[in-house]
Amino acid sequence: MIYLDNSATTQPHPEVVSSYIKVNEQFYGNPSSIHRFGEKASSLFVKAKKQCSDLSGIADCNVIFTSGGTESNNLAIKGSVHALAAKGKHLITTVIEHPSVLEVFKELEKKGFDVTYLPVNEAGVISLDGLKQALRKDTIFVSIMYVNNEIGSVQPIKEAGEIIKAQSGARFHSDAVQGFGKLPTDFDCLDLITLSAHKFHGLKGSGLLAFKKGLSITPEMIGGGQQEGFRSGTLNTAGVVALAKAMRLASESREDAFNRLSVYNQLLRRFFEGQNEVTVISSHNAAPHILSIAVPGLTGEVIVHALDQREVYITTSSACSSKLNKKSHVLSACGLNDQDIRGAVRISLGAMQSEKDIKEFIRTWQEVIPPLLKGVK
Ligand SMILES: Cc1ncc(COP(=O)(O)O)c(C=O)c1O
Repeated sequence: MIYLDNSATTQPHPEVVSSYIKVNEQFYGNPSSIHRFGEKASSLFVKAKKQCSDLSGIADCNVIFTSGGTESNNLAIKGSVHALAAKGKHLITTVIEHPSVLEVFKELEKKGFDVTYLPVNEAGVISLDGLKQALRKDTIFVSIMYVNNEIGSVQPIKEAGEIIKAQSGARFHSDAVQGFGKLPTDFDCLDLITLSAHKFHGLKGSGLLAFKKGLSITPEMIGGGQQEGFRSGTLNTAGVVALAKAMRLASESREDAFNRLSVYNQLLRRFFEGQNEVTVISSHNAAPHILSIAVPGLTGEVIVHALDQREVYITTSSACSSKLNKKSHVLSACGLNDQDIRGAVRISLGAMQSEKDIKEFIRTWQEVIPPLLKGVK
């Protein structure tokens, strides 16, 4: 099998899995219980939380553990906007966000908030001038994703943060789900950052929202008051220990992963640029682990299923939209024509990828895809 769908999810690292199992087997006490067995679980939780805070990219931050990127994005946006609503009603985001951000903003519009959706250029990047013009006196919240999940475009978070801080008092959030473990996430300018474990060889159902200490956030999940009241529910000690382990491993291997994946990206890019029937969609400045291409004569689904027969796994533009059969809002925003959008597929690499996988993928593509095109002509 060749697995090149790492932006949908990654293979959990064996050390992460064994941490999870060990904590569940040996330290399953409830960290809120006052007996020694509970206290042991609590001390593991506190230690893991400190590691996650230190590695999140936001200095001197607090962390809320969640069920993943979707919940963290919902909490960051709704929790901030509701806490800040008395100060203004204007919000800013981009047209290419993940649905777990875009749908939240759409819901807030229905509740009377005014949202500016920043457009992107053909490389999938916002304009900083556009951001400057969009900021208003009543802007309370800005959310700009770091790395786009469909085309890998990287937004200028540092520069955007400088503009936001210079021009307004708005809170600045980034969905860095696709960036962590591949690109640096240490941004002083960010107030909140969303991470999801299963995108960097951690476990599904586990993520976090890190934020500058002292920010007011209205909780979404209320109940027993765990996690300082920000998110009630029995603490998931094993999940948090496993998340800390995944973050540590991903941080330690980040530079090496970036360098290796850049080489593999170049191999793939050079191959596709030499194929007449292929359009390379991702720009040269995109993150190295995501390469989006299109074969205008075919549909993305046909390509995915043909490779699937050979146990080679890629996806149409994004895993979330591929089963819904929806036209990609990201590719549309980049100005691609309908034929390219229909024929688009995403190849996404993980930190554990080898050069052998890439060479094998190219060989399989050459055997499988050109005959399909002959059938179409
Ligand atoms: C950019 C981005 N944000 C958020 C999410 C949602 O993360 P999760 O699957 O952990 O809910 C994803 C998942 O694909 C993503 O790619």
